[in-house]
Amino acid sequence: MNDIINVESLTKVYGSFKGAKEVHALQGVDLTVSRGEFIGIMGPSGSGKTTLLNILSGIDTATSGKVIIDGKAIDRLKKDELAIFRRKRIGYIFQDFNLLESLTLKENIALPLILDKMPPQEIENRVNELMNFFGISDLAEKYQYHASGGQKQRVAAARALVSDPAVCFADEPTGNLDSKSSANIMEMMTQMNTEKNCTILMVTHDAFAASYCQKIIFIKDGKINIQIQSSGDRKAFFDKILETLSIVGGDKE
Ligand SMILES: Nc1ncnc2c1ncn2[C@@H]1O[C@H](COP(=O)(O)OP(=O)(O)OP(=O)(O)O)[C@@H](O)[C@H]1O
Ligand SMILES: [Mg+2]
Repeated sequence: MNDIINVESLTKVYGSFKGAKEVHALQGVDLTVSRGEFIGIMGPSGSGKTTLLNILSGIDTATSGKVIIDGKAIDRLKKDELAIFRRKRIGYIFQDFNLLESLTLKENIALPLILDKMPPQEIENRVNELMNFFGISDLAEKYQYHASGGQKQRVAAARALVSDPAVCFADEPTGNLDSKSSANIMEMMTQMNTEKNCTILMVTHDAFAASYCQKIIFIKDGKINIQIQSSGDRKAFFDKILETLSIVGGDKE
């Protein structure tokens, strides 16, 4: 089976209780992702991008529809099964890094493996290998307030990869970074995809960051609007993304 994500007729309705006004955040999303793809998700603010990522990664649940990740119907898993599945098979990179400030950066990366009770020597080997891969070995014993935004995002990426997940989700990973750090992080995400064989789904508002992807899915009003594919020429893809955004919308505003 070569599909890593299979989503059918996915809907999400928020606030349909206590008389709150319902929000139809997702209105019938169908999506298939093959192993090894690097996909960008773009669309206007409020179009449902984060909602989609959170449901695919098991952070949130759908109102209806089918979600299969790495061969598992995650909506049918029990709470503790889902927690284990998420820790082992899914990586998540957040816009604001989500590191724990009381732990060293190395401990932050090791945390998912410690929770999984992996033997200490294996944890040590894996964490060192990833810190080396991301060029952050000198930061091992430091805390997050010592690190720059770009360095923190590298730590967060190492943590996302440490369990050797089947798929990695990233919600605006360059949203808090300057343009130089953004370019660095996008090079790093490309390496995660090509050298660590990680399938990646990344939400971004930034056409430059998106140009590193192989394919972009544009979401509007909770539905997939159109998809565009890169020919491999990043500059040409950047222009195509800008052109598509000018037609379908997708800026922060
Ligand atoms: N927990 C929640 N309760 C109620 N409504 C919500 C909740 N989370 C999101 N929404 C609503 O669902 C819709 C989709 O939100 P979502 O966060 O998925 O958008 P987005 O595309 O990620 O936007 P942005 O680009 O601003 O991050 C919006 O109308 C939002 O207000
Ligand atoms: Mg969002």
